Parts: sequence; C-alpha cells; structure tokens
Amino acid sequence: MSVLVTGGAGYIGSHTVLALLKAGLEVVVVDNLSNASEESIKRVEELTNKTVAFYQADILDMDLMSFVFSRHEIESVIHFAGLKAVGESSHKPLEYYHNNVTGTMALVAAMKDFGVSNLVFSSSATVYGEQNKPPYIETQTLGLPSSPYGKTKSMVEEILKDYCIANEKFKVANLRYFNPIGADVSGKIGEDPNGIPNNLMPFVAQVAVGKRDKLSIFGNDYNTKDGTCLRDYIHVTDLAQGHIDALNWLVNQESGLCEAFNLGTGQPLSVLDIVHGFEQYTKQKVSYEFSSRREGDLPAFWADASKAEEVLSWKPVKTLRDMMEDTWRWQSGNPKGYES
Ligand SMILES: NC(=O)c1ccc[n+]([C@@H]2O[C@H](COP(=O)([O-])OP(=O)(O)OC[C@H]3O[C@@H](n4cnc5c(N)ncnc54)[C@H](O)[C@@H]3O)[C@@H](O)[C@H]2O)c1
Repeated sequence: MSVLVTGGAGYIGSHTVLALLKAGLEVVVVDNLSNASEESIKRVEELTNKTVAFYQADILDMDLMSFVFSRHEIESVIHFAGLKAVGESSHKPLEYYHNNVTGTMALVAAMKDFGVSNLVFSSSATVYGEQNKPPYIETQTLGLPSSPYGKTKSMVEEILKDYCIANEKFKVANLRYFNPIGADVSGKIGEDPNGIPNNLMPFVAQVAVGKRDKLSIFGNDYNTKDGTCLRDYIHVTDLAQGHIDALNWLVNQESGLCEAFNLGTGQPLSVLDIVHGFEQYTKQKVSYEFSSRREGDLPAFWADASKAEEVLSWKPVKTLRDMMEDTWRWQSGNPKGYES
C-alpha cells in the first residue's frame, strides 16, 4: 500500500516524503512544480536509496488523478498541494480559492471514487483568526482569518467536516502548523522560495549567504518583550514526523472522524530571538533594519500542542540550535537553492 503525497516536492512535502520513505512506506507524489523543483525528490531518493513514483501534475486534473489512483494501491493521502503566500492571496483571491479549495474538493472526489478514506490535511494556525488569544488550542472556536489564503484553510476544514458527517468511513486529520523552519540535517533538502521570501527564516539565511543585503523586521513597537512579533517556530523534521504519527493514528481508527491537531512547540520566540539565535549558532552576521508593521501580522501567537502529544504521541525534539544549524547547512551548501 502507498501513501499519496500531493505537493510532495515542496518544502514541508519533501521532508515528509523523506520521513515516509525512512519509515518504510511506498510513496507516490503529485506536484505541478508551481512552487518547487523535481530536484527535491531526486535528493530525497538519493538520501534514502529508494524511489518515489513522481507525477508532475495538477490535483485539479481529474483524469490524471484517476490515473494515479488506478495505477497505485493508495491507502492514505497527505495533502500539501496549495498556494501559500498570504500577501499574494489578497491580490489573487480567485486563484487561491480555486487551487486550494476546489483543488481539495477534486482530490476528495477522486479519493471517494477509489475508496480511499484516510486524509491528512495541511492546515494552519491562521484558522484561529484574530479573535482568539494564545496559546491557541483546538477547543477554541475558529476565528476569521484576515487573508484569502487563511480563509481557504478554514473553508477546507469546514468542507472536510461536512464531508465526514456525510461519509461515515472517511477519516481526516487537519494538522494546524505553526511556523515551520529548518531543514533536513543532511543539508540536502530545505526551503527554496521563489523570488523574495515571505517568511523570516529563508530571508535571514539569504542575507547571511549574501543573496540579499538586509533583513527588514516589520515592526518593533508591538507589546512583546523586545517589540517584535512572537511566533511558534517548529523544526520541519519534527513537523514531518507529525504527519507520520497522524497517519499511523488515522489508519488505526475504526470509524470516520475529522480531528484537528496543533503542531507547534508551545514556545513563543521573537523575530529578534531568531536573528540572534542564527548569529549565535552559525557565527554568521545578519544585517537588519526595522521597518513599519506589515498589515495583517498579529503581535503574538503560539500553540498549545498537548492534544497532539496525548493523542498522536507526537512531541517535537529539535532545538533552536538544530533549527539554525540545519538552515545554515542547507543554505550555505545550496546558495541558489535547488538551482545550485
Ligand atoms: N510553510 C508554512 O509556513 C506553512 C504554514 C502553515 C500551512 N502550510 C501549508 O502547508 C502546505 C505545504 O507548505 P510548504 O511550505 O511546503 O509550501 P510549498 O509551496 O513549498 O509546497 C506546496 C507544493 O504544492 C505544489 N502545488 C501547489 N498547487 C498545486 C496543485 N494545484 N497541484 C499540484 N501541486 C500543487 C507546489 O508546487 C509545491 O511543491 C501548504 O498547503 C501550505 O499552505 C505551510
């Protein structure tokens, strides 16, 4: 039996494919490479000495998806494929709703056609919206995310909930990620954003490697310990393991369900903690300047991840030092990302 990983060539997807292969599972990847390179899959294959059945295809292509489901004995799906740039989503809402929401519905329809009933979905802490106070916990009523991107995640969670009610054998784990950073310890795979990074960690790493001049820190007047935003940074390898644990749990459930799990460390860190941590552990200088706040940024949020620990037996093990050293190993060994 195989696991189908949509978006498996991307940042979190490639680390999860690595973890799945290491766990001895067969993996099928569907990725349209809109934000990834096939090189990530090749490197995962080299690291594990195993092969991945890779399809460069869109999850909205129903014929192709039927072909993939008919060709492989798929037991479960991990669904990463999606557009994820918060700012861009405000300019291209239709693209985001189509890709992320319609794309998921097309995927679930294909799963239904082929009797596949285990789904792990990449959700996000953004579903808690602005209304909830941290630490976020799964029992909170979801808020309204400010961006179309965030709304796609809330909508998909709602759709999956309704689908589970109507299809009593269907099982869903909505994994709400906090802020994934870092890279595999090998330094062979990592985060390789197109153009100017939207997220802090790749920006820091690109400044350190000389690809960018300076980091702009958006706002130093928040009501936090040093005035910069607080987030819950989670090592991507710990996050990948969360998918394995969620999958193991899901396939062993007897009846249908739709459950959400926070995946974070529960430890808030500021933007300056990350910049200084990077400098401390990698001995690289990171030039930065403060600029005005960025619209839509919340001052602080972090996870209560006790449910994932209790139910999935998942617990992050990587340290801040691992996050910094692994990021730098990837970035310094691959200054131009997968192009290098
Ligand atoms: N990275 C984060 O900070 C973060 C936080 C919370 C949630 N998420 C979610 O996790 C998932 C993975 O994130 P990531 O950081 O690895 O992003 P990513 O862009 O690196 O990976 C997404 C992958 O999906 C592929 N893709 C996009 N649309 C597709 C489609 N229609 N058909 C086939 N492939 C498609 C892209 O080419 C890419 O490889 C996304 O759904 C994202 O929204 C990410």
